[in-house]
Amino acid sequence: SRVEYLNYEVLDDYGWSLSDEDLFEKAATTQLDVVDYGRFLVRPHESLLEAAENRGFAWPFACRGGACANCAVAVITGELAMPVNHILPSEMSDRGIRLSCNGMPMTETMQVVYNLKHLPELDDLQL
Ligand code: FES
Repeated sequence: SRVEYLNYEVLDDYGWSLSDEDLFEKAATTQLDVVDYGRFLVRPHESLLEAAENRGFAWPFACRGGACANCAVAVITGELAMPVNHILPSEMSDRGIRLSCNGMPMTETMQVVYNLKHLPELDDLQL
């Protein structure tokens, strides 16, 4: 799966929103650091978090077991299966929020916003 990623902190910096229809178009046409925006491939049997780490990125995590939500991402296009989830309420998964530590891409391409632990609703969840 080919993943296009964007750092949630960039949204804050530029006044963008997760619901902006043209979020990734804006990201692609803005001079962003490769840490904040770019693409990588997820290999079979890699979770999204493992793929990011194996490609040299340091995405947030803590438990790696579906219990803390530090690894949360917002899936903008595509789908990420999440076999283990002990933390995200259904109203968040309904909005496309997923855990990257055990989340496996289910689509050929995906657009995800990572570093979602700074989303106010998620801050409230953290233990
Ligand atoms: Fe804790 Fe993913 S790292 S839920």
